[in-house]
Amino acid sequence: MKNILIVQGPNLNLLGEREPQVYGSATLHDVNAAIAAFAVEMGLQARFFQSNSEGALIDFIHENRSWADGIVINPGALTHYSYALRDAISGVSIPTVEVHLSDIETREEFRKHSVIKDVTIQQFKGLGVTGYLRGIESLVSHRALQDLKAAMASLDWNALLKQTVAVLKERFPKYTWVGIYLVDADELVLHNFLGRPSPHTRIPIGQGICGAAAAEGQSIVVPDVKADARYLACSIETRSEIVVPIMAGDKALGEIDIDSDLPDIFHDGDKDFLEAVSALIAESAAHE
Ligand code: DQA
Repeated sequence: MKNILIVQGPNLNLLGEREPQVYGSATLHDVNAAIAAFAVEMGLQARFFQSNSEGALIDFIHENRSWADGIVINPGALTHYSYALRDAISGVSIPTVEVHLSDIETREEFRKHSVIKDVTIQQFKGLGVTGYLRGIESLVSHRALQDLKAAMASLDWNALLKQTVAVLKERFPKYTWVGIYLVDADELVLHNFLGRPSPHTRIPIGQGICGAAAAEGQSIVVPDVKADARYLACSIETRSEIVVPIMAGDKALGEIDIDSDLPDIFHDGDKDFLEAVSALIAESAAHE
């Protein structure tokens, strides 16, 4: 995933002055500047386009179809009736996410239905500008999962665990420390990691946030590690953490542990993505 298209549909050129109580006060320029900054952070190249015309949007998608690895689109009102735009998206076979600044579910009846949604990997609504950033993360996650699935076919278990850590660390700059622990008797043993060296290479199951996730067989998201008594400090810079167990049935084989220097940075998208990665690892373990 290197190149993404940011496509904005009809009337989004008027953001800032258009119904600010619904769409907020940021202009299209502000919105695109926030997206551009995030794309740079994620190491992606972005091409931006807005049009009030259905045909021009379709032409832009066609023209960029061999360049783009992903599309983030807010189709505006075309969302609700443009089969032509839907066909363009499915026709180019590029992973696409649909974004709406407002929550189309809670507005007029005609906005509740999207004819675009079925040809996208995910829809984001009601999150304002953040929806576009989540959309980008969703595209990167989708690609990372595809790449790990492909890697599974040729890598043994050890190599797959290393490749998983490498892919997570490389593609998500907010993941400051990424490690995989494996269960050995009543301990979690650090298999491999990327980031600052950790003093916690062996953790008793039940101890710390890592130990709790393995004991409970549930993912744990900690928005503020300083406010969680279970946190075993690795680095004073760490602000938030997510731990996702790798489960074989109801038995934990190990877990993916990720720290971030950014506070409250993990959301449902991270949890869903990392649970899918963990399921892949568990599947690969079953074939060992
Ligand atoms: C919109 C929602 C659409 O229903 C509307 O026609 C828009 C903007 C949004 O971003 O919330 O133009 O896509």
